[in-house]
This record gives sequence, C-alpha cells and structure tokens, in this order.
Amino acid sequence: MTRAIRIAPSLLSADFAFLGRDAQAMAEGGADILHFDVMDNHYVPNLTVGPLVCAALRPHTTLPIDVHLMTRPVDPLIESFAEAGADMITFHPEASDHVHRSVQMIRKRGLKAGVALNPASPLSLLDHILEDLDMVLIMSVNPGFGGQSFIPSALPKIAALRKRIDDAGLPVAIEVDGGVNPANARALGAAGADILVAGSAIFGASDRAKAIASIRGAAESGLGQEAA
Ligand code: DX5
Ligand code: ZN
Repeated sequence: MTRAIRIAPSLLSADFAFLGRDAQAMAEGGADILHFDVMDNHYVPNLTVGPLVCAALRPHTTLPIDVHLMTRPVDPLIESFAEAGADMITFHPEASDHVHRSVQMIRKRGLKAGVALNPASPLSLLDHILEDLDMVLIMSVNPGFGGQSFIPSALPKIAALRKRIDDAGLPVAIEVDGGVNPANARALGAAGADILVAGSAIFGASDRAKAIASIRGAAESGLGQEAA
C-alpha cells in the first residue's frame, strides 16, 4: 500500500486576525492543504468566512485551498470561491437541489470537487455521482464547530467507502474532518483515509509542526493495517 497521507489544517482554529501568517506557518510546518471552513448560520449554526477572505488569503500561500462549504444554497458560492482562488470545493449534498450540476460547476472551473457526508448521512448519497468526484469528505463530527469529539462510527464508514472506491478502481480521495488527532489517526489511515483535516489538534498544540508530523506519522503507521 503506497497511499500517501495528506494533512489539511483547518483554518477555523487559526487566528482570523492573522490568517496569512497562520497559513504560512502551516506550510512551513509541513501541511499539504489548507482547509477553509465556510459556515452560513443557516445550513449550520455558525458563521465564518466567505470568498473575500479566501481571496485575501490567496496571495499568502501556495498550498491548495480546500473550501468546505457548509452553506445552503451551494451554487452561487461555487462561482465566488472559484473566482477567489480556491483549488478544491466540497459541499453537502443535502444543501444542493441538483448535486450533479453543482459538481459539474466546480469541475468546469478546473477545481477539484468533493461531496461531504454528515455522520448520519449514508454512503448511498454517493450513488450515481461517485465517479464524477475527486474526493469524498467524511464528517466525523456534526458540522458547525471546531473542537468536537470524533464520532467512531466514521471508521467503518470510511472502510466501506475505501472498498467501494478501490473495487471500482476510481481515483477518488477520502478526506476525514472532525476530531482528528494523533491518537485516532492510525485507525483512520488503516480504515482508508487519504486526507486528514485537523483544527484544534494542530492549532491547539504548543508545537504545530510536531502536531502535523504526529498525525501524519500515526496515519501512515496504519496504512496496510486494514485487516487489523
Ligand atoms: C467542522 C469543520 C471542521 C473543523 C475541524 O464543522 O468542518 O473542519 O474545523 O476542527 P477539529 O479538528 O477541531 O474538529
Ligand atoms: Zn471542515
């Protein structure tokens, strides 16, 4: 198994007054992707940042910006975030009236497209759309807030999705978001995750580069341990 684990710090846990500085620190600390949580106080009970902030951040980093839309509606923001310099856009299928159209909108702009599944959302929501995706985001907390506890039922869900993707031979990445830390990263690697999002476990650590390395190391130690 030669899967590489990518680490995506969630800027939700950064200092919003110093986003550019914190993004640069993440790059220097070994992050692969910047996870950018967009909450609208409608689809989720919290309000964060929009395309203007993404555009302001763009010149401060060369890392891919991974926009996680927790918004309803979805489509108008796809255009805005593409303009703002996003590289990847993931949305929640329950929040889009036309999931296939939203995916095509993202891909037509040359961005990577993902669908996010809440803890109680079934993998069957991926029927008829999985082959059109670049990634699937498995939520291991209910969306809305950083710093929540990992919900363990995400693990068998990730394993089932890994099997489905591999059986179909699809190049779809599995991203996991919520409560990820060095203690559960091994199980996530073993279950089949490719991209681990972590907010509080990285920004709350005294040594953030070390936290990134610990999560990556633990996840990579789980690779190939699927049957364990
Ligand atoms: C939750 C967000 C997550 C969150 C992760 O709705 O989508 O990206 O910031 O934060 P932690 O790692 O603290 O759970
Ligand atoms: Zn997120």
